[in-house]
Amino acid sequence: MLSPNIYLRYSLAAVIAISVTFPLGTLAESAQAQMSEQTAMQKSQAAIKEYATTLKAALQTAMKAGGPMAAIPVCHTQAPQIAAQVGKKYDLEIHRTSLKPRAIAPQPWEKTVLEQFEVEKDAGKPIGKIVWHKTVEVDGQKELRLMKAIPTGEVCLTCHGTNVAPAVLSKIKSLYPNDEATGYKLGDIRGAFSVTAALN
Ligand code: HEC
Repeated sequence: MLSPNIYLRYSLAAVIAISVTFPLGTLAESAQAQMSEQTAMQKSQAAIKEYATTLKAALQTAMKAGGPMAAIPVCHTQAPQIAAQVGKKYDLEIHRTSLKPRAIAPQPWEKTVLEQFEVEKDAGKPIGKIVWHKTVEVDGQKELRLMKAIPTGEVCLTCHGTNVAPAVLSKIKSLYPNDEATGYKLGDIRGAFSVTAALN
């Protein structure tokens, strides 16, 4: 094993060699941005996984216990709460959105991505594999934007399908007067997770 002293000398030599080749400031900056971008990618993916799993569990429990009428309030109150908790944990902003939203209408850039997702799905890509990310700069702040498509499964049709029970529909309409999120079929893209993470 090499002694720490030798490591130190090696890395010092490396730093000197690099700073001769590149201006050190630029290199350090881009290395830092890249590192945090990688971290942000990992955190975004972990956050989506955790949000999806937690919400699905809450939905399933409520559906089993009291059917859709009991599950609507769960979606209504817990979806935003879980999103906020997960966002805090991973130090980013996470929500769901859709081209036909119930709760959160897409921002223009999200709408563009969602439309691209439809094109990819129509071209035969499995919805579970449809993701997008981009690093952008907003008011001098670099941020990673990441979106992941959400497929429409069987259970989703109860509240998002073409044949939503009248009582369920009227409960939904009372909570979301501008609801557009019905009429979905199995295998449609229901929407997407959307993450924004500030970069160094
Ligand atoms: C019991 C009714 C119910 C079921 C079942 C249900 N949802 Fe929802 N869904 C809702 C409600 C209510 C909201 C609004 C949540 C909010 O206020 O944030 C919602 C919102 C959403 C959103 C956010 C985008 C938007 O339209 O505002 C997505 C995406 C979504 N649901 C996907 C699904 C998927 C996928 C399934 C199946 C795994 C599913 N839902 C099952 C009631 C339901």
